[in-house]
Amino acid sequence: MSKLLLGVLLCVIACRPDTTTATAPYIIEKSVISKDAGIASAHPLASKIGLEIMRKGGNAVDAAIATQFALAVCYPGAGNIGGGGFMVLRNADGTTDALDFREMAPAAAHRDMYLDSTGNVIEGLSINGHLAAGVPGSVDGMVKAFSKYSKLGDWAALIQPSIELASKGLILTEREANGLNRTRDRFIELNTRTPRFVKENGTWQMGDTFKQPELANVLQEIRDHKEAGFYEGWVADSITSEMQRGGGLITKEDLANYTAIWRTPLIGEYKGHEIISMPPPSSGGIALQQLLSAVESFPLSDYGFHSIEAVHLMIEAERRAFADRATHIGDMDYYPVPIAQLMDDGYNKERMANFNPDKATNSDDILAGEFADHESEQTTHFSIIDKDGNAVAVTTTINTGYGSKVVVGGAGFLLNNEMDDFSAKPGVPNFFGLIGNEANSIAPGKRMLSSMTPSIVTKDGELKLVVGTPGGSTIITSVFQTIINVVDFKMGANDAVQSCRFHHQWVPDMVMLEKDCFDEGTQSALKSLGHEINQRDGYIGAVEAILVLPDGRLDIAADKRGDDSAMGY
Ligand code: DON
Repeated sequence: MSKLLLGVLLCVIACRPDTTTATAPYIIEKSVISKDAGIASAHPLASKIGLEIMRKGGNAVDAAIATQFALAVCYPGAGNIGGGGFMVLRNADGTTDALDFREMAPAAAHRDMYLDSTGNVIEGLSINGHLAAGVPGSVDGMVKAFSKYSKLGDWAALIQPSIELASKGLILTEREANGLNRTRDRFIELNTRTPRFVKENGTWQMGDTFKQPELANVLQEIRDHKEAGFYEGWVADSITSEMQRGGGLITKEDLANYTAIWRTPLIGEYKGHEIISMPPPSSGGIALQQLLSAVESFPLSDYGFHSIEAVHLMIEAERRAFADRATHIGDMDYYPVPIAQLMDDGYNKERMANFNPDKATNSDDILAGEFADHESEQTTHFSIIDKDGNAVAVTTTINTGYGSKVVVGGAGFLLNNEMDDFSAKPGVPNFFGLIGNEANSIAPGKRMLSSMTPSIVTKDGELKLVVGTPGGSTIITSVFQTIINVVDFKMGANDAVQSCRFHHQWVPDMVMLEKDCFDEGTQSALKSLGHEINQRDGYIGAVEAILVLPDGRLDIAADKRGDDSAMGY
């Protein structure tokens, strides 16, 4: 089985805990129209906490911070304080910003740390256990976002609801119960003290109350001491003791040195829309713009939604963008990513010069572009718009489902396995089947390349869409397809989000089709064009989107593929 297939399969099993419709003990709205404010996140309790903050006068950033902490409690497979992420925001006055709170490699990390003595990648070392963890960025990210943009100005108020949720406990959904049960053996294997994620005497059931008192204590430290409550003091001590116990690399200095970074968002253009997205260390913003530019001159709406012409064209654009990703994109503080060249409209349109509407291109015939001068499945996304029109898109992750499965002893939170997003060895695929090169090699302090694509779209200077999703490499193609659904196929948020998705990432050379989606006719037409088809045994992504309607109301959509919940007022 190829790495990608394995990754996809594992992500189906672990990243989105279940693929069936859960009879969750919550009323979960997937599609809501609201007048003033809206939120879509992976869990109804997190959406509720974020919405309440806005009702109390907080802005979209305040709501985002509260939602991030809430997800760390109620959605432990992906929500986190032990991971990292990206925030893209657009203020009501039109100014934009981007916050990089991606994890970084510990100082003791080195290029060949996952290779054996013969130079081969040691299977699983960057995925499970202590060595897989990068230095977490989420807490510093939230503090930086608060300092720069909070309207409420009350840090404790943003965290208190999550403290209560952790200490009083939350009612498990069917999906979460299944996800925890499926990871039970790994939790036991990788932790000396059995973590609370493992139910004593039996398995979790939907409706069980799940309490996390250690996590509540950590959140109290963060409430009382902001970033110092995590990167210093007893929480930092717990992280480093955990590292020593399990042979991990993160030290006190690594924690003290971590800083989230404000970056300039990438701003591109598509059919009169402005596309605001995340720069490196995410590949998302660059790749999204490449995809949109590549298809822009083609009459997609004439072709029709999910017509063979449209799907084939978009697959071929995806193939080309992922070739560039593998070669050119990494942490730009360590590698000269040719951002302007990769974002160049002419370059991306030229990349389609060898596109053949009647035949799939062979990935072997697609190389990454060459530039003379270099300038210098589990994740979760939430989209928020407040009553003043401030918009925030956050994608945050501990990488695969429940991250490294290592729970910090005495502190009750999971550490990420984000180190797997580096290229452990040139050309060797990671969990998501992505290959990389020098641009994304491991180096001390470097941030691993991401596919996360929190994005905001405007039209004629007005806010139009806030969008993002989890899904590893499929994040880029899911955000791309959602934007195309809105702009070209004129869908509302709900249709744009719930529609079937497909994915191509250059290598391996195959199209992944979401389960139960594309009929036999479409599949055989794609095959006859020369595409290898892989019918995925699960869903692709979990998109959360808010579309601003022409009358100013918010069309909020949460993905049907999970417990994702849309709310507004
Ligand atoms: O940053 C990235 O691209 C990955 N760590 C995201 C992982 C992910 O989306 C897993 N979820 N399904």
